[in-house]
Amino acid sequence: MTTAPDTAAPPLLDGLQKALGAELAADLVLSGPDVAPYCRDWHGDVQSDALAVLRPRDTAQVSACLRAAAAMGLGVVPQGGRTGLVLGAVPDTPARQVVLSLERMNRIRRIEADDFTAEVEAGVVLQTLKDRLADAALFFPLALGAQGSCQIGGNLSTNAGGLNVLRYGMTRDLVLGLEVVLPDGRVLDLRSRLRKDNRGIDLKQVFIGAEGTLGVITAATLKLGPLPEQTATALLALDRLEDAMSLFRLARRQCCDLMSAFEFMPPLAFTLAREAMPDLSIPMATDAPAYVLMELSGSGLVDVANLMERFLELAFSDGLVRDGVIAQSQTQAQGLWLIREGMNEGQARRGRHLRTDVSVPLSRLPEFVATAEAAVTAALPGAVCVSYGHVGDGNVHLNVLPAPEGDADHQIEAAKKLIYQVLERFDGSISAEHGIGRLKRADFQDALPDTQRDLLGAIKRAIDPAQMMNPNCQLVLVRGAGG
Ligand code: FAD
Ligand code: LAC
Ligand code: ZN
Repeated sequence: MTTAPDTAAPPLLDGLQKALGAELAADLVLSGPDVAPYCRDWHGDVQSDALAVLRPRDTAQVSACLRAAAAMGLGVVPQGGRTGLVLGAVPDTPARQVVLSLERMNRIRRIEADDFTAEVEAGVVLQTLKDRLADAALFFPLALGAQGSCQIGGNLSTNAGGLNVLRYGMTRDLVLGLEVVLPDGRVLDLRSRLRKDNRGIDLKQVFIGAEGTLGVITAATLKLGPLPEQTATALLALDRLEDAMSLFRLARRQCCDLMSAFEFMPPLAFTLAREAMPDLSIPMATDAPAYVLMELSGSGLVDVANLMERFLELAFSDGLVRDGVIAQSQTQAQGLWLIREGMNEGQARRGRHLRTDVSVPLSRLPEFVATAEAAVTAALPGAVCVSYGHVGDGNVHLNVLPAPEGDADHQIEAAKKLIYQVLERFDGSISAEHGIGRLKRADFQDALPDTQRDLLGAIKRAIDPAQMMNPNCQLVLVRGAGG
């Protein structure tokens, strides 16, 4: 089948191509049906559209794209691997927004083994970087279920969390330097290999977690560590979530800094994971009220396997663990992690559902989960709560699968309100790691104290006076007003 040439290109697209110049436009610009895959969110809940997708190959081309978009008065939605869960990378005003995809800026510029640093472009896929570093016995600690698709620029822009935060911190703790293209096309070069540098306000941190609302991150210098040569991974069955917190406290004291992950899952995790991966092997009974997936890791002279065994002896003798398995090989450890990973896919297969990403003080987590789940199930009979996640960080994904017979959207909204009401009483956050995006903008903005709104508004206006970067993401400012 042949397609007729697009003789009626909209004037804005035409103008954008002219502003870029014919040669660059021919290489960089996608339009028409080609933009569809760039306008869909990971779950497939939203299929939007865009005037065009721009795919620059280097920093200078990103500058050219931003200048051209500014000249045409277009909004620019930066995009990485599109695995974000809050609709930050999907346009919402298609006729006036372009997607700027970093997928072609995917070079690892340099690895400095003696400095334990790597300078990488924003479009490098996280797993690709981790694999390259492993070849040099180096390690970038960020670890999340989406690591096969998400990109470093997206990780930085969302300040991603994930499985290893309790040991290594969030993404912002793993960054030494940054290269950013500002909305007017200027390049802010904050690349640095320095571990310590206290020259005034740390500007790069303003762009980390900004979700593309202040500029385009084009490259970063990342902080590396030695590749852990030993890991010990255990799946533990518990009588209650409270025991998970006691177990965590014990592990903090007994395993020193070698604990790298401590994840909580409900028994439904096994069903959900099997729905996504029917061949998944599950090494223990699945009828306990709560499960913990725990990892210790290290290298050199430490004996991580021995530490895990001795720790579990203590945990059993304290009555904190009902049953447990320790992976005997790397393959078995990966199999245990597949259960945790399969949960997200399993929930996605169940259709539209509420996804939350909340955090509360560690000590209050079990009470928060019990209170919020009780509020949801009392108000929405038949809805199923799925609470899991990074309990070592006080971060739980308290998701809700709506009752099949009711209206899904109504239940999702009602469950969200109930959970957020409980969250407020527990001094919690509605976004522990996924960000605000477009999905949580109203909830974020409505709860924002005036002083914070004023400061955030002032930063946005100073860096992006035309408000062209990722419009409607995180915050919407009233044009001309102070806050
Ligand atoms: P995208 O989704 O493409 O974009 C995310 C945001 O960043 C958007 O606002 C976009 O505009 C902006 N952006 C992207 N690139 C740039 C750039 N170069 N410059 C400026 N702005 C940019 N998140 C966690 O924190 N922890 C988890 O454990 C976790 N697990 C996940 C598991 C699964 C299965 C999935 C699907 C997602 C998970 N996520 C998790 C969410 C997601 O993977 C992260 O938010 C990730 O950091 C997004 O990266 P991305 O490249 O896909 O970004
Ligand atoms: C996870 C994502 C949803 O922890 O943040 O699986
Ligand atoms: Zn998470």
